[in-house]
Amino acid sequence: MTVIAFSLFMTTRIFLVTLFFSFFLKINGLKVKSSFFCNNCGAESPKWIGKCPSCQEWNTYNEEIIEKKTIHEEKEMMWKSSKKGKVIPKKLDEIGTLSTQRINTLDAELNRVLGGGLVFGSIILVGGQPGIGKSTLLLQLALKQKIKVLYVSGEESEEQIKMRANRIGNNNSDCFIYTDINVNNILKEAIKLSPEVIIIDSIQTLVSPFIDSTPGSVSQVRECTGELQRFAKETNISVFIIGHITKEGGIAGPKLLEHIVDVVLQFEGDQHYSYRILRTLKNRFGSTDEIGIYAMDVHGLREISNPSELLISPDDGHLSGSSIAASVEGMRPLLIETQALVSPSIYGTPQRSATGFDLRRLSMLLAVLEKRCGLPFGQNDVFLNIAGGIKVTDPSIDLAVVTALISSLQDIHVSKKICFAGEVGLSGEIRPVSRVEQRIQEAARLGFDTIFISAYKSELLSKKNFGLEVRLLSKIDDLLKEVFA
Ligand code: TYD
Ligand code: MG
Repeated sequence: MTVIAFSLFMTTRIFLVTLFFSFFLKINGLKVKSSFFCNNCGAESPKWIGKCPSCQEWNTYNEEIIEKKTIHEEKEMMWKSSKKGKVIPKKLDEIGTLSTQRINTLDAELNRVLGGGLVFGSIILVGGQPGIGKSTLLLQLALKQKIKVLYVSGEESEEQIKMRANRIGNNNSDCFIYTDINVNNILKEAIKLSPEVIIIDSIQTLVSPFIDSTPGSVSQVRECTGELQRFAKETNISVFIIGHITKEGGIAGPKLLEHIVDVVLQFEGDQHYSYRILRTLKNRFGSTDEIGIYAMDVHGLREISNPSELLISPDDGHLSGSSIAASVEGMRPLLIETQALVSPSIYGTPQRSATGFDLRRLSMLLAVLEKRCGLPFGQNDVFLNIAGGIKVTDPSIDLAVVTALISSLQDIHVSKKICFAGEVGLSGEIRPVSRVEQRIQEAARLGFDTIFISAYKSELLSKKNFGLEVRLLSKIDDLLKEVFA
């Protein structure tokens, strides 16, 4: 009885407090509108829900205030009203193509990932973990140009940016630095300055004055990106946006951001190594198979046009446990060194550890070697490492991994003039991989003697002389006979 009376009392109290607040806000001419957003995928809901129906994640909904005032006219910004009514429907034939309207960024790697240069009026999102070099990459881009660039930073002061620019060394007299976080002010300045490229560092620091939530919240990020996108399309100015990455590896803020922008680039690499890879995740103006490779040194990022030469260590002649994979990253052939260490297990359960390679795939390859070749990996600890801090997802590296494992187990040296390209199947068969000819040509260019590939459909390979010996394997047992006999 007491419990019911108490809960009735509490409900009435909450009701009265809510009534009072809504009355108070009304007499002040304010109407606070809030909504709930999933901070994983950006889905919106009018009420709190435990499990997101869109991305199936639990406990990701947060309340955010989305509008401060009821007066919608205020939303009409200066740059928008000035352009209002100018866009009319056009016939498809009357619209010019974009192919000729590209800016050469003077950075061969960036041009490559953008699909041949920067398209006018495009909006590009550059994501990456903190400290990986996003600000350096884009400031360097701004300094290299011979065109007018506006670099907007909400993260660093003008002096900090100047220090970084001094470190990089280049100078563009038409590079303007602006430190503000209000998207409305930024766009007003951009209209006055009319640069060809705008760089925003970073989207998580920007705020729109029409939204009351904190910078970096889903609704702020979405609104600011939306404003920038409309601005880019109406003024034909290209906009680069830097975005931080969440712990899970996705670009922080809603997935929706990726839908709004034209190009999504991801900057990745291991902080302990100097190599950085710029990958295209989405590109409305080109292929998503391209990668750009850089190295971070004391004067900023250096373009690496010939990565294979850097990723392979010189042949010592007697060391076991290493082999070279002719892999392909994006569309670029890349020869990578794989290293394995197999040693008797001291503790009960053997350890397995992999850097730059999927641990489950390593377990699978060990099981195949154990079952099909009878090799005793079950009693050994196994450590695998891909050189240069590179993460490889190309399955063609399997054959080189298997070779390195056997080489370490049997302590037999494998010559560094031999490379491998093949996927290993569950029954121990060597499966063919894509772009075989490109891999063979790259191996020949780098002076390899021999390449091992899958025998399957090898008759489709062109009969020309590649300048190195191409040897065929159909089963994993063939590898033992041909390389370790
Ligand atoms: P930064 O561009 O600030 O990373 P992000 O914007 O992605 O957070 O890069 C920071 C790192 O780069 C920092 O650890 C220092 C290093 N760095 C160099 O090694 N050389 C250089 O010339 C510059 C400018 C930075
Ligand atoms: Mg930065």
